Amino acid sequence: MFVCICNAVSDQQIAEAVKAGARDIEDVQEVLMVSTACGTCRQTAEAIIANTLLETAVGRSQPLHANAIATLVYAA
Ligand code: FES
Repeated sequence: MFVCICNAVSDQQIAEAVKAGARDIEDVQEVLMVSTACGTCRQTAEAIIANTLLETAVGRSQPLHANAIATLVYAA
């Protein structure tokens, strides 16, 4: 589903960006331009980022970066 209508960014693309190394909304904005126009999609994008970080944290041998933890806390 499209999360960011302004820039035609889907939830799948956001999740893939996180799996590729993005850790917060700024990281995802750099690669997808999500939430760089009207901003209506920001909370949804941040929730997808947080959810994907949680999903990928299981089995991760290194602790999450501080920015990733802040994203999780902010989205909760
Ligand atoms: S819907 Fe994402 S910036 Fe407008």
